[in-house]
Amino acid sequence: MSGKKCILIFFISLHMTLYDSTDAIVNKTCSSSKQTLTCNYVPEEIPDGVLNVNIKNFVLEALFKLQNELFRSNTWKNVKSLNFDDRLGDTDNYVLIRNMTFINLQKLKYLRMFCLSNFQIEPDAFKGLDNIKQLEFSGCIRLNLDTLMKSLNGSDKVPNLEQLSLSEIHMLRYGINIDRTVSRCLAGKPLKRLDLSRTHISSFNPSVSTDLNHLTAVNLSRAIVDKITDHSKSLFPALNGLDVDLSYSKIIGFYIPVGFKTLANLNLPLSAKNMPWLAVFISSVRSLNVSAFNDGREVFLYNIKVWANDNIKSKYTKEFISKQNKIKRIDIRIDCNNIDISSVELFDLSENGMEYIHPSFIACLSGLKHLDLSANNLNAMQMEDSVLFGQLLNRSKQLQYINLASNMLGDVPVDFFKGSRSLVTINLSENRLTQVHFELHHLKYLSFIDLSKNAIKILDSITMEQLDALKIDLEPNIVDTETKKMASIGGYTYGNRHVRVSGNPFSCGTCETLSSIRWLVSAHITEPVPDQLTCKDERGKNIALNDAVAAVQEICERVMKIVVPTITSVVVIFIIVGIVLLVYFRRKRTKQQQKRNNIIELLRHDEEYFALFLSFCDEDVEFVTENVIRPLNEGLQQLVGTDRNLVCLGDSEFRLGQYVHNESLRCIELSTVFLCVVSDSYCNSRYCVEEFDQATQRHKPVILMMKGDVDIDLMTPTMQHLFRNQVRMLWEENNGEYMLKTSWENVCESILAIATR
Ligand SMILES: *[C@@H]1O[C@H](CO)[C@@H](O)[C@H](O)[C@H]1NC(C)=O
Ligand SMILES: *[C@@H]1O[C@H](CO)[C@@H](O)[C@H](O)[C@H]1NC(C)=O
Ligand SMILES: *[C@@H]1O[C@H](CO)[C@@H](O)[C@H](O)[C@H]1NC(C)=O
Ligand SMILES: *[C@@H]1O[C@H](CO)[C@@H](O)[C@H](O)[C@H]1NC(C)=O
Ligand SMILES: *[C@@H]1O[C@H](CO)[C@@H](O)[C@H](O)[C@H]1NC(C)=O
Ligand SMILES: *[C@@H]1O[C@H](CO)[C@@H](O)[C@H](O)[C@H]1NC(C)=O
Ligand SMILES: *[C@@H]1O[C@H](CO)[C@@H](O)[C@H](O)[C@H]1NC(C)=O
Repeated sequence: MSGKKCILIFFISLHMTLYDSTDAIVNKTCSSSKQTLTCNYVPEEIPDGVLNVNIKNFVLEALFKLQNELFRSNTWKNVKSLNFDDRLGDTDNYVLIRNMTFINLQKLKYLRMFCLSNFQIEPDAFKGLDNIKQLEFSGCIRLNLDTLMKSLNGSDKVPNLEQLSLSEIHMLRYGINIDRTVSRCLAGKPLKRLDLSRTHISSFNPSVSTDLNHLTAVNLSRAIVDKITDHSKSLFPALNGLDVDLSYSKIIGFYIPVGFKTLANLNLPLSAKNMPWLAVFISSVRSLNVSAFNDGREVFLYNIKVWANDNIKSKYTKEFISKQNKIKRIDIRIDCNNIDISSVELFDLSENGMEYIHPSFIACLSGLKHLDLSANNLNAMQMEDSVLFGQLLNRSKQLQYINLASNMLGDVPVDFFKGSRSLVTINLSENRLTQVHFELHHLKYLSFIDLSKNAIKILDSITMEQLDALKIDLEPNIVDTETKKMASIGGYTYGNRHVRVSGNPFSCGTCETLSSIRWLVSAHITEPVPDQLTCKDERGKNIALNDAVAAVQEICERVMKIVVPTITSVVVIFIIVGIVLLVYFRRKRTKQQQKRNNIIELLRHDEEYFALFLSFCDEDVEFVTENVIRPLNEGLQQLVGTDRNLVCLGDSEFRLGQYVHNESLRCIELSTVFLCVVSDSYCNSRYCVEEFDQATQRHKPVILMMKGDVDIDLMTPTMQHLFRNQVRMLWEENNGEYMLKTSWENVCESILAIATR
């Protein structure tokens, strides 16, 4: 026994005596639920059916000895998972793991220790754990890696180990060395996953992979690597399809194309030979997460042309994640001819504040299924070059998931998703969209669109029509599990139609919003359910969407009450006026008809009456006798249906021995119409004019029959007035022959019409 150990044991026994008293104060307790038992000590017996045992806050002594006596009982035999958690423990304490401690735990698969204490591990401590799959020492900041490795060295120790988690191990000491000494201890075990996250690695030898040829995942997230020892070998060169998490890590001296500021106007031939990182990426990485890598500065890439002479083909690379790397501008035009990166399915460039990405960069990733461009500023690109922006997804035929959230987009070009026909999910949340006018109908599998937190106040008809294009309840074969997984991350189950619209300033303050509100409350959206949505009413107050329909309807009705009455009153007035006019004209017509009938009756049967008083002067006797009397009388006789004389000519009808004046007056009275044959002589004849005046004074209907051109100045004012305002009959003189400018039928009809007026 060396002197050092003696001192140690002395201190330990001193501590033990001190802690003996406290031991009595803290009671030993256990609690169990289903298959899990949680205790603050290592219980002797395990109840039936318990498979998981958690020992929490157990290091009560200065030296906690883990040894096989503790697990002696056969009841321990079935335990599958054993966790020691002493993160609250005293950091001065020691945990000693003795040889063959777990020999009795034949079925143990998972052994995890989260201890702040110092560790002593005997070389054969883990011997007998033949079924162990996962060993974890996360947070064991005082555990020495060399001590641990010695206890894992050899094919007889943990021969089936698949996962070793060493996150934060040995942090309080100098950094750990990951070299061949370490890898040889683990060689021969089927180790698949190695977690070295949050460790400080002072030197790293990439050729460890030659010993760890089962590795599929290495986690170096938040690790600091001071030195990579053998540069000639690239990282994990012997491996195919490795998941590497380098997020938030700092790898000093390790070149990866982030961390520089501006590159411009370059022709960049890619060559796997000259670019080891590229060779690594292309040849061995399945998934690479370089988010927030090396604390990079802002990256601006201007006008860079990339091509390759020799064929560069990614075989296994499926995922590339580069978040938070301040990549502001990717103006890289790639000539994809010799560059085949079609194996990449997931590309995450979110949270970079990116203002530009050349479409050719995305176009080369022809097998892309998931693209995350969220939390960038692609609005800037749309401003700079809207045509190029419109082509961003044009060649991404396989794309199923696109995240464009938080890009300050005011709109999306109509044909933006034209080429990406496989889309299932579109995330446009946290932008400034006011409508959805981009085409969605051609997207056969689209079932989720996230429009939350935009600036949509009212959905217009185009928007509603576009959103109605979303498919319901379909389960196409093309939708892969990753897409479904993403769907569940988004908080929904794949297979239903989801339109997420929460967080938009919906308005329900005007009648125009009615169809929009109705659409929202109908079954069209499922995210969130409509009763969790609100809208701003007339007074700018937020009300539940479900109450909004009634409120908007009320607004519409109010509008109707103002508009409709005015419209109806106008219509009613029109109708009434129409009816009145109709009735009036009808009545008038029937009245006229009746009057006409009466007149005809009168003329037919009463010998006293005449249809017409024909007034003419002596100079025109010849004209009247030759041209007027007979056709006029015959026409009227035909109209009335009688063969008695209907035209009063004065002289022939005047009774003998009476005053001519009285007789003419009587005759005028008995005639229904006064027709005068006006000529210059008529106007000059005092007797004729007097006859005319008698007729007008008695309000007889007067018709003027103009014999040739008559000098208007010769007419009396009444005659002039009639001449100007009434239809008159004209005789046209042609070489002494007179022609009536209308038919006698017309003349007779007019006479009867004037008589009935
Ligand atoms: C331990 O148990 C005793 C009696 O069973 C009780 O009086 C005491 O308070 C307990 N101590 C603690 C720390 O729980
Ligand atoms: C533990 O096992 C190793 C290797 O078999 C041996 O050298 C060592 O003496 C053992 N320790 C104890 C305390 O038995
Ligand atoms: C592991 O075991 C081999 C042979 O058994 C030995 O040569 C080597 O030194 C051991 N490694 C460590 C780190 O103890
Ligand atoms: C790597 O470890 C960190 C924690 O240190 C964890 O957040 C991350 O998910 C791990 N990465 C992978 C790929 O499991
Ligand atoms: C890095 O990306 C991988 C996916 O490939 C993911 O599992 C992991 O959690 C990411 N790391 C961090 C720290 O987010
Ligand atoms: C998409 O690409 C095709 C072929 O490259 C081209 O003809 C078409 O105009 C592009 N569409 C848009 C919207 O850019
Ligand atoms: C869309 O992106 C936002 C922000 O990144 C996120 O909160 C939301 O869950 C995403 N929606 C879906 C459906 O993935």
